[in-house]
Amino acid sequence: MIRVKIPATSANLGPGFDCLGLALRLHNTITVDPNRPFQICLTGSYSDGIPADESNLVWQTMCHLWELIHYPTPSVALTLENHIPPARGLGSSSAAIVGGLLAANTLAGSPYTKYELLQVANTLEGHPDNVTPALYGGVTLSVPAKSGIIPRVLAQSPNLKAVVVIPDTLLNTEKARGILPPHVSRNDAVFNISHVGLLIEAFIREDYSLLKEGMRDVLHQNQRAILLPGMLETIESALKAGAYGVALSGSGPTLIALIAESSKKEVSQSMVTTLGQYGVNAQAIVLEIDSCGATLSIA
Ligand code: HSE
Repeated sequence: MIRVKIPATSANLGPGFDCLGLALRLHNTITVDPNRPFQICLTGSYSDGIPADESNLVWQTMCHLWELIHYPTPSVALTLENHIPPARGLGSSSAAIVGGLLAANTLAGSPYTKYELLQVANTLEGHPDNVTPALYGGVTLSVPAKSGIIPRVLAQSPNLKAVVVIPDTLLNTEKARGILPPHVSRNDAVFNISHVGLLIEAFIREDYSLLKEGMRDVLHQNQRAILLPGMLETIESALKAGAYGVALSGSGPTLIALIAESSKKEVSQSMVTTLGQYGVNAQAIVLEIDSCGATLSIA
């Protein structure tokens, strides 16, 4: 039996559009039982709406890898335990892709390295900011180079907690990307480049006082605010309540505040209350940063 545990992830962290991300200690688990008739069993908190047939993303990804390496598709039974809420900006599809690749690679005798799996995952997902932290853990930077994505772990175990505020509403990443203008101004590009620099310094020096400014963005968050009423006000309320820094998680609608343990109550309450004032129902959960990335066990 092969078991893969994959963390939820939060992409962008404000200005790091399509390149920064971090892993969170909230996991999906994929269990593969080899030499069994094909079957997909869905368990966990978020199984509704997820296909249990051959169109399932985990299964599709496994088949994709076997095709790439010319490995004959084996018959397996899968159990997918889903705790990452889908379509909320917490990397549920990246978790399916990363988990499917790791499981399929292991079944085939591990011909691909983690770095090679990252390249395949990036091709499937389209942007690397969720798949890199899902594979490597911690806070990551993904650099699109000629040779492929260069993954850098900026901080494996930062001394931070995350308040993750998850609205009831779902949001499709394609829709949230579709509303972004195709061009950005030079001023806005400079704003984000410089803020990413500050953010990297914050993580590397563990100087979290830099996160408040470092997590500001002008390339996508203001534009996406129409998709989440009260988003900008909620970000400001979390900062007032003591968060180090706050951002839209991936393409939303979840918001993420990076905090010290001591401010978790105030930040959670202020964010949920502020969103509620704009008619958005949301739940707050406090999560640790995942420092391992996807893990594999074989029984
Ligand atoms: N960076 C993506 C976006 C989401 O903001 O559209 C996660 O990959």
